[in-house]
Amino acid sequence: MTTAIAQPQAAAAHATTPPVIELRLVTKTYGAGAAAVQALRGVDLRIAAGEFVAVMGPSGSGKSTCMNIIGCLDVPTSGAYFFEGVDVGALSREQRALLRRHYLGFVFQGYNLLNRTSALENVELPLVYRGLAPSARRARALGALAAVGLAAWAHHTPGELSGASSSGSRWRARSSPSRP
Ligand SMILES: Nc1ncnc2c1ncn2[C@@H]1O[C@H](COP(=O)(O)OP(=O)(O)OP(=O)(O)O)[C@@H](O)[C@H]1O
Ligand SMILES: [Mg+2]
Repeated sequence: MTTAIAQPQAAAAHATTPPVIELRLVTKTYGAGAAAVQALRGVDLRIAAGEFVAVMGPSGSGKSTCMNIIGCLDVPTSGAYFFEGVDVGALSREQRALLRRHYLGFVFQGYNLLNRTSALENVELPLVYRGLAPSARRARALGALAAVGLAAWAHHTPGELSGASSSGSRWRARSSPSRP
């Protein structure tokens, strides 16, 4: 009886869970007047929890512009962005920075690794900004390196890792300890 009641309630709660990311008619215009570039012209996008989405398009089509907005590095010219139902446009700069720090992870095209710093410290870096205690930081960073098969390289610098090991795919460990 209890289960029979609990299940529909759980299903109803799931149905009302907002998407993790939702863009509504987002536009972005760089510059003004004759020099204005309309990079985004009304993007609608919904990404649910657990979905894996690739944004593809030719150079200049606005992929980076879109990612910058989703990553809270930039704001739309018009339209709305909801993160887990929260209207990001209504947040202050500081609140957006907190959202970035606690919920978003980036893997950049350039690896942005510190060359004279060990793999472990490179992976730990984003967790420093999140205020994690050193021991917790270390444990999580080691776990992330182990997850991509780089545990043995934790104390080597990026330059000491082979091309394959330091490639972008392996350095995803850099973004994963944040558990965005
Ligand atoms: N800071 C900026 N100031 C002015 N125009 C910009 C700026 N950033 C991007 N643009 C312009 O906005 C449009 C979209 O650029 P964007 O970088 O988002 O494209 P992209 O799809 O990421 O391209 P790529 O595949 O080359 O990385 C382009 O016309 C670009 O020239
Ligand atoms: Mg780009």
